[in-house]
Amino acid sequence: MEYERDHNTSSSSPPSLCKQLASSTLRGSFLNIPVVDLSASDEELVVRAVVKASEEWGIFQVVNHGIPTELMQQLQVVGKQFFDLPEAEKEAVAKEEDFEGYKRNYLEGIKAWDEHLFHRIWPPSCINYKYWSKNPPRYREVNEEYTRHMKKLTEKILGWLSEGLGLPPVALTKSLGGEMAEYVIRVNFYQPSPKSELALGAAVHTDIGAITLLVPNEVPGLQVFKDEQWLDLEYINSAVVVIIGDQLMRMSNGRYKNVLHRATLDKENLRILWPVFVAPKHDLFVGPLPELTGDENPPKFETIVYKYYLHQTIRNWTLDKLPLY
Ligand code: OGA
Ligand code: NI
Repeated sequence: MEYERDHNTSSSSPPSLCKQLASSTLRGSFLNIPVVDLSASDEELVVRAVVKASEEWGIFQVVNHGIPTELMQQLQVVGKQFFDLPEAEKEAVAKEEDFEGYKRNYLEGIKAWDEHLFHRIWPPSCINYKYWSKNPPRYREVNEEYTRHMKKLTEKILGWLSEGLGLPPVALTKSLGGEMAEYVIRVNFYQPSPKSELALGAAVHTDIGAITLLVPNEVPGLQVFKDEQWLDLEYINSAVVVIIGDQLMRMSNGRYKNVLHRATLDKENLRILWPVFVAPKHDLFVGPLPELTGDENPPKFETIVYKYYLHQTIRNWTLDKLPLY
């Protein structure tokens, strides 16, 4: 696909944006975004399905993943309770100089329309509980329990993706820094927008980290760009959405695809989503794994310190002032 080539550099600004944005959206057509049932008795089949979806789509949903439905509901309840607090209480955990904290973005120019709460959840040494809201009181307990499950599921999926590359199951997790890989949750809260055709909750982007595991509420609006079309992600109760980010594409030397996606707003209904972004430890060099490259397979991406990739990409986003719609 066209955008892979352009993602070859450390910048990941989506190319040909105008062309892509001009493409129509297949509203109500939930075609084909793969769904993988992790409880299938033949693990080989699960591995193959996860690998194929990562090669061809860069996004898939998993069901029967082992995270208790009750816990997923609790996560949603405490998140919603936070956003329902009076503005002054939410400001108690407001974002400061770093990315963590609460931020509200309702711009008149309809460029952005979101509120979010962002904080690290792993490793424990990087957590700043200042940004975990004290209200509702169960916020911390529920998020800690959820983190344990997220980490387990992420490592399981990374294990299968490692096998898909012909590597030992721990290969990808290890290359992200093992226990020091960074997990960050962002609760995205999108009020209904009367101008929903014009505004976006999140601009067109690929996820910068390695992999994202996301739980949405039941209101559709996450769209992915595939074969020159925008496709809606179908809501499946209790499913977890898995998105391949830039670093897995780079580490796999292009075998796994990152995926362009965006968040639309709904005219009448609140959208709220819980992505967990998994990224390499910040000072690690990240690029095609040496086992995957050689004379026959030259590296397609440069190896650079993740922190630089991250900063460069965010700076490019800002400089490019990506059109949001
Ligand atoms: C993100 C993202 C989608 C959404 O936060 O990276 O893609 O619908 N979110 O909020
Ligand atoms: Ni995203």
